[in-house]
Amino acid sequence: MALRILAARPSKDLLSLPWQQPLEDWDAAVQVPLARGISRHVVRFVRADKQVYAVKETREEWAWREYHLLRNLQRLGLPTVEPVGVVTGRTHPDGAEIEPALLTRHLQHSLPYRALFSQQLQPDTVRRVVDALVVLLVRLHVEGFWWGDCSLSNTLFRRSAGEFAAYLVDAETGELHDTLSDGQRAHDLDLVTTNAFGELCDLQAGGLLDEDWEPFEMVERIQRRYDELWTALTGVEEFGTADTWRIEQRIAVLNELGFDIEELDIVTDWDGSSVRIRPAVVEAGHHRRRLQGLTGLDVEEQQARRLLNDLDAYTASHDLQGEDPMIVAHQWQTEVYEPVRRMVPAALRERMEAAELFHEVLEHRWYLSEKAGREVDFFDSARDYVDNVLPRRSDLVPDGNVRSVAALATAIEAEAAGAGEHGVGAMMESDADDSEDDADETSDSGDLGWH
Ligand SMILES: Nc1ncnc2c1ncn2[C@@H]1O[C@H](COP(=O)(O)OP(=O)(O)O)[C@@H](O)[C@H]1O
Ligand SMILES: [Mg+2]
Repeated sequence: MALRILAARPSKDLLSLPWQQPLEDWDAAVQVPLARGISRHVVRFVRADKQVYAVKETREEWAWREYHLLRNLQRLGLPTVEPVGVVTGRTHPDGAEIEPALLTRHLQHSLPYRALFSQQLQPDTVRRVVDALVVLLVRLHVEGFWWGDCSLSNTLFRRSAGEFAAYLVDAETGELHDTLSDGQRAHDLDLVTTNAFGELCDLQAGGLLDEDWEPFEMVERIQRRYDELWTALTGVEEFGTADTWRIEQRIAVLNELGFDIEELDIVTDWDGSSVRIRPAVVEAGHHRRRLQGLTGLDVEEQQARRLLNDLDAYTASHDLQGEDPMIVAHQWQTEVYEPVRRMVPAALRERMEAAELFHEVLEHRWYLSEKAGREVDFFDSARDYVDNVLPRRSDLVPDGNVRSVAALATAIEAEAAGAGEHGVGAMMESDADDSEDDADETSDSGDLGWH
């Protein structure tokens, strides 16, 4: 049978991968040692044309199904891994057929949830991880996607200014509908709470979560946060015509939650005395889009919020409120944002996205100022962070940079040898840094005056 690669964005290097071997037998030389979560199938990361891809060996119909679902979810603008292609017709030199493979692009700077717990940042980390998962689930439900296997293991997490942004990684069981019934949503919610409960208990059993901590609290949190967000995004509100300010208020509340209302359904009753509103189309990424419009920077929602706060503070402190916001944003970018990014030596740049670095520097400034009992200069804080904190961060995702992940590779191999594919999942090497823990508890540090 002929080898066939159907790829959304073909790369000639993909052809040269050893498709005639089962994934499990692939040489370490073609693999990129990055952390991955627990999985049923064999999954490996490889590099081709300077990109890192995830390869999952699975049955042909499942590979196609997942490929098409991921494509549709991407078209809807939902946060998922990006599908690249399906490889079929794999035959071993001895003539045996090998299962097809689904190719997705490795999600940069993402981590499986277990890797997030290799540092002692709990239980607030749990809260943030669970909150991110709920936002993802609600966004998927709003678009009519029933996941069928929503869990922490089937999600990837990216840092986003002290919070996390969750991405769907495993769509195998999903179904895309026009809309979901209440029953379908309840079923998914039931599945996620059961899965997350088990996963958190596992973490606890493995000593990665405090023993006193109660996993059931998180189950309640998932349910509560889900209901709150679903109601905020889709709920009907009714009020008298004298209270039409409530329309503005509803929009403001959703903006604050990071959503834009693309269409609002407004109905007045027959005698015109009351109004009913319901957001008909909502879109996530309110701050992200605003920042992109002003600066061209494309970052996570919480990061965008943080950068916009800093831009606002900069505008106020330089008395630039009357100026064209685009011009002020450009000035801020060239005088503040870019210089901080450039402080990082090239060898460390892959460690952290520029927007996350900026957030970390703001936190670090807050921490230094607290310690010093006075406001420490912004650029001095940035220099200190880049020289003394960033190089010691061992929890960061090196993004396929093999040079800097030697330690991680060893950890992954040790884990694979010990537990196999269905084991505890690959872990990042842990080397908790005290100053980081401190910084993590100071997430409100955006209140310092501008630099
Ligand atoms: N595109 C990707 N980027 C980053 N990690 C990925 C990607 N695809 C898979 N992984 C990792 O591999 C793990 C297993 O993938 P998944 O699709 O859940 O496999 P399975 O269907 O066998 O459960 C995920 O938890 C994740 O850690
Ligand atoms: Mg999975």
